Amino acid sequence: MSERTILVTSALPYANGPIHLGHLVEYIQTDIWVRFQKQRGHRCFFVCADDSHGTPIMLRADSEGISPEDLIARVSIEHQADFKEFSVAFDHYHSTHSEENKTLSTLIYQRLKEQGYISSREITQAYDPIKEMFLPDRFIKGDCPKCGAKDQYGDNCEACGATYSPTDLKNAVSVVSGAKPIEKDSVHYFLKLSGFTEMLREWIHGGHVQDTVKNKLDEWLEQGLQEWDISRDAPYFGFEIPGAPGKYFYVWLDAPIGYMASFKKLCEKEGLAFDDFWREDSTAELYHFIGKDIIYFHALFWPAMLTGAGFRTPSAIFAHGFLTVNGEKMSKSRGTFIKARTYLEHLNPEHLRYYFAAKLSAGIDDIDLSFDDFSQRVNSDLVGKVVNIASRCSGFIKKRFNNQLSDQCAEPRLYQQFIDRNETIAQLYEGREFGKAMREIMTLADLANQYIDEKKPWVIAKAENKDQELHEVCSMGINLFRVLVAYLKPVVPVLAQESELFLKLESQRWPTTFKPLTGHTINQFKPLMTRVDPAKIAAVVEASKESMEPVADAVVEKKHEPIAKTIAFDDFAKLDLRVAKIIKAEAVDGADKLLQLTVDIGDETRTIFAGIKSAYTPESLTGRLVVVVANLEPRKMRFGLSEGMVIAAGPGGEDIWVLAPDEGAQVGMRIK
Ligand code: 2FM
Ligand code: ZN
Repeated sequence: MSERTILVTSALPYANGPIHLGHLVEYIQTDIWVRFQKQRGHRCFFVCADDSHGTPIMLRADSEGISPEDLIARVSIEHQADFKEFSVAFDHYHSTHSEENKTLSTLIYQRLKEQGYISSREITQAYDPIKEMFLPDRFIKGDCPKCGAKDQYGDNCEACGATYSPTDLKNAVSVVSGAKPIEKDSVHYFLKLSGFTEMLREWIHGGHVQDTVKNKLDEWLEQGLQEWDISRDAPYFGFEIPGAPGKYFYVWLDAPIGYMASFKKLCEKEGLAFDDFWREDSTAELYHFIGKDIIYFHALFWPAMLTGAGFRTPSAIFAHGFLTVNGEKMSKSRGTFIKARTYLEHLNPEHLRYYFAAKLSAGIDDIDLSFDDFSQRVNSDLVGKVVNIASRCSGFIKKRFNNQLSDQCAEPRLYQQFIDRNETIAQLYEGREFGKAMREIMTLADLANQYIDEKKPWVIAKAENKDQELHEVCSMGINLFRVLVAYLKPVVPVLAQESELFLKLESQRWPTTFKPLTGHTINQFKPLMTRVDPAKIAAVVEASKESMEPVADAVVEKKHEPIAKTIAFDDFAKLDLRVAKIIKAEAVDGADKLLQLTVDIGDETRTIFAGIKSAYTPESLTGRLVVVVANLEPRKMRFGLSEGMVIAAGPGGEDIWVLAPDEGAQVGMRIK
């Protein structure tokens, strides 16, 4: 087996939100594949970065009253902490807002320009006259031009499925300021993709994408490739385009270049030759793991950009499906929109790694996390079949044989049968058929348990003069366990490492030529893994649900209650709206989305629970002026009494903006 040189990436997560289980399918899938390659002795590098640019990140920072740089620095720390605890082991984790990425993005753009692939022309777009910015489609809402459904985004209607342009929306408003958008012209820059049509057709048919993906790409090619708009106007958080003041690279231009930039940084850290991996005739392998929603960017734009700029194209793009939970789209109200952090607070990350592995294939079908199935598989496979072998055999080895294995292997043929499966299992890992690989490994685990069941060491132990047999049977069990753990190592690295400690072994390579351990001393067995506790799953769901409690009232925009078309002036006059000052803001124990606010409303101090934690840190709120409804009936909540409501706007999640009156306002002032 000759050594391969491989560079692998996972898609870059946006720097404005937390990692959730949907993301983790991909990071875990990639990490398993990378660990497998490394275990096989290949030179394999795994890089990633935060995708730090774009309008949502800029606005989010704005709403928190911090700079985008501060926001992305904080989120980067959170993302990396989550990855680390899930054992997703990048060789380098970078940011697209980095020197390396700026240099490479500029270089690629300039080369594309020199080659005549960049054009420019004036286009008309929706513009927020108050916030003085162009509005991406997702930041415009209004009534669907087709069915009239209220509150629809600027690009498509969730009620009737119509797609349209934001200028077609009725009663359109800017989500950022509430203003009515106007139309405004500005010059944009475009990548002339049609010039790459033939190159892309050939590339797509060259075995670099999965078959189902190839068919989809063919359809797109048939429709003809449009020019791709790669610029955005200021204000924008990104890199300014050289020679075009006030124009910035669209986030999706510099995002994939972020793969290169992250690797560039790794090269600097470790003295690797960057060009060997990226020059046109590079023999290194390059793989991008992505979700099926971003195939267009990776299989059309990206190879075109690379080719136009004189770099190599990817060896393959590996797309995967989405995650559903209990058969449905992840949902905040059902508590199935689960953040990595929430999971980690209650459950073992290796359980999820194993479960995802058991469900993953090389295709793009969605995978389902069903909680019953999750517990059952983890308990029966990892705990019941694998770890159980070690716990069944190690007791006798300790008590009767001083932790030393027998001098000879009782069943060389059975042992060899385990080793002989190594090529098959390796091919399954290589082809990303992890589910099939897990089934192969569990079939072997069944054989090992069957062996122990037949030999019944607990019976032999009671017989006289059968010490040698007992010793050999239990040692055989331990040897089989050792091979199983080596096969599972890419999936459950912590279990593998703890098993190596128990077995007194160095880090295990792929078991191509393993010989049975004989006369070898092991350490005392400690429980390596416990079963899934159903109460913990319930706790995860409960903690994930919390965001949808009545506190969501604090967000003006509410989907579940019809908003009256008009209200009488008298009804409006009943509202006691006041400017209030946040004296104290603190997290609420056990609540993911809530902040407990102590506010000064002029004549008294109130406690208000607001569901805005996803958008604001407590520190960023203290001392701020906000608008509250002072005469709202107090509501009893799980965490205490909420005496009013802070007015905020936005679709929820990270996109919530409290209404902050100008500095001129005074505490207690009535809004009329
Ligand atoms: O879809 C996303 O979440 C993007 N942030 C993925 C970027 S992948 C790469 F192109 F940078
Ligand atoms: Zn509609």
